[in-house]
Amino acid sequence: MSITRRYLMCRPTHFAVTYRINPWMDPTAPYDNALAVRQWDNLREIFLGLGHTVDLIEPLPGLPDMVFAANGGTVVDGRVLGVQFRDAERADEAPAYAGWFREHGFEVREPKQTNEGEGDILLAGDVLLAGTGFRTAHASHAETQEFLQRPVITLQLVDPAYYHLDTALCVLDEQNIAYLPQAFSPGSQSVLRQLFPNAIIATPEDAAVLGLNAVSDGETVVLPSQAVRLAADLNRAGYKTIGVDLSELRKAGGGPKCCTLEVRS
Ligand code: ARG
Repeated sequence: MSITRRYLMCRPTHFAVTYRINPWMDPTAPYDNALAVRQWDNLREIFLGLGHTVDLIEPLPGLPDMVFAANGGTVVDGRVLGVQFRDAERADEAPAYAGWFREHGFEVREPKQTNEGEGDILLAGDVLLAGTGFRTAHASHAETQEFLQRPVITLQLVDPAYYHLDTALCVLDEQNIAYLPQAFSPGSQSVLRQLFPNAIIATPEDAAVLGLNAVSDGETVVLPSQAVRLAADLNRAGYKTIGVDLSELRKAGGGPKCCTLEVRS
C-alpha cells in the first residue's frame, strides 16, 4: 500500500566533485553543476507528482556533498538520530541537518559513533537494516537500536563501490527488498536470504549504475533510468517504476535515494 511520504532534500547549488571519499569520485574529471541541478529538480518534481511532501534544507557553500540528504539523519516515529561523518570533508553537514530538524520541532540525538544516516540505516518493515564496513561504525548499530527502538540487523558491506548500504540494497515495501548479494559478506547474504526469501536480486550491471539507490513508496519505485533490467524485474513483481537520470550526481557516488531523507513523523 502506498502512502504519502515526507522527504527532505537539498538542492545541489554547491555540488562539485573536489575530493575523493569513495571510488566513484574523480576530482580531476569534469562535472556540470547546472545539469546536476536540473536532474535533481526533475527528481523533486517526480516526488511531488507522486503526491509526496518535499521539504528543503538550505544548501551551504563549501559542502559539495550536502545534496545527499539521506546522510543527514535517520528518522523513525519522529525520533531523529543525528549523524557523524567518517570524513572531515562532510563533517559540517551534521550540525546543518541537526539544525534543520530542531527548527522543525524534532529533538535530535547526537550519535557517539560514526553514523551516516539513511545511507547505512534503512527501515524495512519493523526492523532496521544497518550497514557497516566502510562508513557507519558497527558500534553505532547498538546506539541506533537503543534510540530508535527497532531491532537492528547488522549487514557487512564488502565492496568499496557499494560503500553505503543504500547503494547495494533498496527497501521496496514492508515485506520486500532488492539487493546485490555480492556487495555483502557471506554471512550477511545468508541473513538476507532468511529475512527476504522473495527479494529481487539485482545484476552487477544495474548496481553499477546505482540502480539500487532507489526510492520506493511501497507502490512506485523511483530509480536511475539506466537500470533497465531492474526496472523490468520490479514491474514483473508488481511495482510501478519511474526512471530518473542523475548521471551528474553519480559522479559523486550518489543516486535518487542518496538525495532523499525520509522524515517519518
Ligand atoms: N560523495 C558522497 C560520499 O561519498 C556520496 C554520498 C551518497 N549518499 C548515500 N546515501 N549513499 O559520502
